[in-house]
Amino acid sequence: MKDVASIILAAGKGTRMKSKLPKVLHKVGGKAMVECVLDTVKSIGTKKNVVIVGFGSEQVKEALGSKATFVFQKEQNGTGHAVKQALPELGQFDGTIILLCGDTPLVTADTLQALLKEHEDTGAAATVLTAYMDDPTGYGRIVRDEEGRVVRIVEQKDGTSQILAIHEINTGMYAFDSKKLWPCLDQLNTNNAQGELYITDVISILVDAGQRVSAYMTKDSDESLGVNSRAQLAQAQQIIRNRKNQELMANGVTLIDPATTYVEPGVVVGRDTVLQPGTILEGNTIIGENCEIGPQTRLTNVVVGNDDIIHYTYAHDCEVRNGTDIGPYVHLRPNTIIGDKVHIGNFVEVKNSQVGEGTKFPHLSYIGDSDVGGAVNIGCGTITVNYDGKIKHRTKIGDGAFVGCNTNLVAPVSVGDYAYIGAGSTITKDVPAKALAVGRARQIVKEHWVTDDTYKKK
Ligand code: UD1
Ligand code: CA
Repeated sequence: MKDVASIILAAGKGTRMKSKLPKVLHKVGGKAMVECVLDTVKSIGTKKNVVIVGFGSEQVKEALGSKATFVFQKEQNGTGHAVKQALPELGQFDGTIILLCGDTPLVTADTLQALLKEHEDTGAAATVLTAYMDDPTGYGRIVRDEEGRVVRIVEQKDGTSQILAIHEINTGMYAFDSKKLWPCLDQLNTNNAQGELYITDVISILVDAGQRVSAYMTKDSDESLGVNSRAQLAQAQQIIRNRKNQELMANGVTLIDPATTYVEPGVVVGRDTVLQPGTILEGNTIIGENCEIGPQTRLTNVVVGNDDIIHYTYAHDCEVRNGTDIGPYVHLRPNTIIGDKVHIGNFVEVKNSQVGEGTKFPHLSYIGDSDVGGAVNIGCGTITVNYDGKIKHRTKIGDGAFVGCNTNLVAPVSVGDYAYIGAGSTITKDVPAKALAVGRARQIVKEHWVTDDTYKKK
């Protein structure tokens, strides 16, 4: 196979999005659209990838970092003008150039491979990736001659009613013989409805010069969705979500209601895990086998072991080991590791803490910056007082400790193994192992406080 390089067009503002953010940075499946396209094209082994940036160029460059070479398109004079900008980077390149747009995030590596194969097998100067669309509105139409050969592409805005009746569309993705592409760009003109240099005109220029132009039609037209508006962004989200849901179910995960289950492409879920309605799994989340997640649970970059139950919970950048149950109404914050067989009940927040095996936080607690051992019982309403107004301090609670209800643990402080703390205590000094600490005002009882007189007046 010939060497392959790519050009990705990402300089447009995306006016129809009505956004301050460059269109190609809007996310689909948790990833900027242009990054989806770049990652996909890189996965087929391209030698060089040139991204054309313009509107919001700094933001686009920052989002892609060192993954690509960038070229700046000062004015956005159309897709043909955009491609021209890559000449200094790829003018010497000898091979196949794949051209893509930063707003078609759903294309797959398999389809790009098939496009390349068609291109090489037919020895074409250019091969267009096309699709059949039930509703082709907005796309360029593929015009073929009587023998079925592609002769030109006509944009929606330039099309006669006869042209607009065509359902085969231009996906905006092409393979070009690099040496034949560049000379055509000098022949583009702006004699069209938008007064722009269209890359699509290269097709008729090549045909008129007697060059061979091929086409490959995608099997799944969803892959060609070009996102120009928020409505199409939502459509792309739905397609990518559905792809992931199908993959999960095929691999042995139960989805009670796929329509309300949102799993980003990079997430891993083990067999026999059940995802209840309203489950949102994002980023690098990994879930083990036989868990029950949801309803109404959002996990972002969370590693979950096996046999866990997590419901009505929001957790991010943390880890939950095996056989633990969490929720309802729990917030697990970054750098938290919840051990095996832990129970975390309603209205509990845990931050930057380690929690040992078999420990229980049954209700209404804030545990922050803490190292909690195993088999600890944290009574209802217990709070780690971790912040003195300037810095955060740690709390240490040993194995088997019993912390009574409504305790304040004023950090830095430690509670030894098997120690007891009386309910309502404010603990400011370390508690040794196996000791009992009570830190609250002694109760006073005044007998006969209520006189017969006061009682009778009521
Ligand atoms: C384009 C195609 C159309 C195709 C559709 C597929 C042209 C003339 N039309 O139309 O045939 O059906 O894609 O989705 O090519 N861009 C630049 N610089 C520019 C102009 C655009 O970098 O000067 C970038 C945009 O950021 C975008 C991509 O090129 O990522 C496509 O531009 P867009 O305006 O969305 O083209 P469409 O009207 O969708
Ligand atoms: Ca577009």
